[in-house]
Amino acid sequence: MVNEDVLDVEAPRSVDEVVVLDYGGQYSQLIARRVRELGVYSELLPHHVGAEEVRRRKPKGLILSGGPASVYAPGAPALDPELLELGIPVLGICYGMQLITLALGGRVEGAEIGEFGRSELTVREPGRLLADLPREQKCWMSHRDTVYEAPPGFTALASSTASPVAALENVERDIYGIQYHPEVVHTPFGHEVLQRFLLDICGCDGTWSAASIVEDQIARIRAQVGTGKVVCGLSGGVDSSVAALLVHRAIGEQLTCVFVDHGLMRKNEGEQVISAFRDRFQIPLVAVDAEERFLTKLKGVTEPEAKRKAIGAEFIRVFEEEAAKIGDANYLVQGTLYSDVIESGGGTGAATIKSHHNVGGLPDDLQFELVEPLRALFKDEVRAVGAELGLDERLVWRQPFPGPGLAIRIVGGEATKDRLDLLRDADYIFQDEIRKAGLYRDLWQSFCVLPDVRTVGVQGDERTYGAVVVLRAVTSDDAMTADWARLPYDLLEQIASRMINELRDVNRVVLDITSKPPGTIEWE
Ligand code: XMP
Repeated sequence: MVNEDVLDVEAPRSVDEVVVLDYGGQYSQLIARRVRELGVYSELLPHHVGAEEVRRRKPKGLILSGGPASVYAPGAPALDPELLELGIPVLGICYGMQLITLALGGRVEGAEIGEFGRSELTVREPGRLLADLPREQKCWMSHRDTVYEAPPGFTALASSTASPVAALENVERDIYGIQYHPEVVHTPFGHEVLQRFLLDICGCDGTWSAASIVEDQIARIRAQVGTGKVVCGLSGGVDSSVAALLVHRAIGEQLTCVFVDHGLMRKNEGEQVISAFRDRFQIPLVAVDAEERFLTKLKGVTEPEAKRKAIGAEFIRVFEEEAAKIGDANYLVQGTLYSDVIESGGGTGAATIKSHHNVGGLPDDLQFELVEPLRALFKDEVRAVGAELGLDERLVWRQPFPGPGLAIRIVGGEATKDRLDLLRDADYIFQDEIRKAGLYRDLWQSFCVLPDVRTVGVQGDERTYGAVVVLRAVTSDDAMTADWARLPYDLLEQIASRMINELRDVNRVVLDITSKPPGTIEWE
């Protein structure tokens, strides 16, 4: 469930907005993303914020999401009737449609049999919402409570295998409902239905885009920092890169970027960051070669959390030292994304995972005011903004990389310079082959792990006792779940033989075929 922090997100100025109220459905975030893909800015708010908060945002439409509860369950989120009186079109999806039906006098009942997954929709009376769409279509359902009768004054538009009323509308009152999920790819005409609602019914112009974000954010950043000095920690990842570029566009040399090379990066990555920011974009950049400092702190450390803590603490120390040298900077850029805002706080499982992974980030009590230009954006939008700002394709599409870097991929042992170099070389071969095969963007992450074990091999006439490299490649949408990537056998063979031929110490290459859950993506 989306948390209260989203209320602090400021919408871009002068664009059409549609609010999505989250009733706890698993696809609520996806609804907001689909709306944005149609060129309409949307925000996800908790269902209980009330009509006043929605009105304050002056949206052109309101979407009520799905949710896991039965409308009759004790404590189930209820519908604030004022939400239907805001003078804007309302679309209820799944639970949202059931709430509308119940509130306006239709009949919703718990059904013996639920309707989960693919279903057949029959359009009986297309009305406004389903006009010009096929009479028979597939759709994706996920519900047990079922609407048996539309409220008085409403037209029942369609039925499905298990839902007598699967879509309804009252054009005079501008209220619409669909039982199925238009936001998932398994509903082939879902895009059309959302488009109908957003563009025709709400009258949005569909012009929101990465380009409009850039202009809007530049104005905001200028207003926030005035003539102040700003620092930004660059990691080489897409979020901090795009945030830095936006801020630089807004305030030029008032921004100084700090790049701490902890020696745990992948091959050539440090140089790429420096050349992109200092040479190409001419952004004042302090690049600190702190490899020695980090390696010293990692001496004798083998336990995963101790490694993370040592790296995190040293990172803060180095960053603070460098920021102090810049002098009188009082703003700090952070690449916080909308999904971080939605998922932070609330004591949920997601929050616990997040804080664990944020070890290596900056603490909350730094004496800076935060500048967070990506706070309203999803990851794919950040990439679009990066491309719009001319960021190299390689940085725009970089796979996620953990803050503690390669150190947590040397498993069961100490991260020494020799091991890091070996892992870096193996990783380079893996990335190189993945890119050559055109698979880099299809994978959420692809990397190597170096366990602290040696195995026997035979190379030439000699027996060897060498290192094992593990290949880990996963597909995922959000890192919460992941599947191991089915890489082609020929590619795997090419990777393994290059590693063994080119890297003297490696005599065995293995493939990790564990999904998440039960495994995690990283090994430590
Ligand atoms: P797991 O291994 O838990 O990882 O499946 C999920 C995602 O988080 C990344 N990860 C980290 N990121 N610091 C980070 O900044 C960390 O300590 C850390 N550990 C894991 C991981 O690469 C994956 O994208």
